[in-house]
Amino acid sequence: MSTDSTLNSIITTRIAQQGRITFAEFMAACLYTPGLGYYTSPGRKVGAEGDFYTSITVHASFGRVIAREIAQMWRSMGTPADFTLIECGAGNGRLACDIMDYLAEREVQLYAGLKLVLVEQEPTLESAQREMLSAHLDRLAWLSPDKFASENFTFSGCLYSNELIDALPVHRVVMTSDGLKEIYVTCKDGLFTEEAGEPSTPDIEAYLKRIAVELHPGQQAEVNLNAPKWLASASRALQRGYIMTIDYGYPAPELYTPLRKLGTLLCYYRHQTEENPYIRLGLQDITAHVDFTTLMKCGEDLGLLNVWFGEQYRFLLSAGIIEEIEEIERSAIAEEEKLRLRLALKKLIMPEGGMGDTFRVLIQSKGVNAPKLLCQRRIGG
Ligand SMILES: C[S@@+](CC[C@H](N)C(=O)[O-])C[C@H]1O[C@@H](n2cnc3c(N)ncnc32)[C@H](O)[C@@H]1O
Repeated sequence: MSTDSTLNSIITTRIAQQGRITFAEFMAACLYTPGLGYYTSPGRKVGAEGDFYTSITVHASFGRVIAREIAQMWRSMGTPADFTLIECGAGNGRLACDIMDYLAEREVQLYAGLKLVLVEQEPTLESAQREMLSAHLDRLAWLSPDKFASENFTFSGCLYSNELIDALPVHRVVMTSDGLKEIYVTCKDGLFTEEAGEPSTPDIEAYLKRIAVELHPGQQAEVNLNAPKWLASASRALQRGYIMTIDYGYPAPELYTPLRKLGTLLCYYRHQTEENPYIRLGLQDITAHVDFTTLMKCGEDLGLLNVWFGEQYRFLLSAGIIEEIEEIERSAIAEEEKLRLRLALKKLIMPEGGMGDTFRVLIQSKGVNAPKLLCQRRIGG
């Protein structure tokens, strides 16, 4: 039986037992059913042979700029002897490798007391991460998402993630003349269909109330209850330091604008976007844009300070991408290769049409006095 049909029968059986399931349950099954889900089955997801590109696949400079900022975070904390980096949703370890390579080469004192903990929903990625990070094996540790969220785990340093939150299962809602309803997934004549019903949990209305969002009649939207839950675990574990979240998304007024009448749910399959999540189960990615206002508001409630929030291109430009480009220009590589790299890097920082605009960076801190970071510098200043 193909992945598609095995997952189909697992989900159909669940629906037959329960009558209907929330979209969040459907999405969780498609992405994370052990051995069958999009992220929990073998095969390349990211890059040319996969289904989508992330900033990491563009060039190592992305990770190197993040590493520059991490070194600045360490300085802002008074150059502690021990500093832990945590990457959540580390995938194959490419970003972690670019960051560690930079720190080993340029920040010897920080690297000497550095530990890197990789947290990944898919445990079999550990072997790819080991291989990718073979030069840094003595610094590495692995932690399951459950252990990460448990009471016992604490750290000081920086927790970062790239495109983690957009991969967390979301609830879907629609505003009707009869008030806010949740969109459920059910089965009719062997096909998945959607039906609206009362919200499965009061947390959905509380979520929208917290960010003062009132949907317009007919408007659909996603509600990511897993995002504040994840941030609460991250914030509880963090003793002192930073949480850096990189993802595509918007502040709530932009995300929940009536102009986005159908929300932002999107699927990716072999570099094509697809709007129908009910096909190619386990073979296509399903994502939704991130609501950064919720991360900021919840962060405040959890005692985090919102240090910086903005477009990825602004972050990269003020935190060091120009220096990275200058280094490439000064290097001995062939002119043709320099041109190729220049074009690749342009993708990361182009405000329009590139990855620099829809992608945003949020940096939150805890227990650091008046943090001064590179991204707070004026661009070109
Ligand atoms: C869109 S991919 C991004 C991978 C990588 N960060 C990149 O940018 O190429 C999302 C990753 O997050 C992982 N993931 C999902 N939920 C997670 C959780 N709660 N904790 C850690 N990793 C998680 C998935 O298995 C997947 O590898």
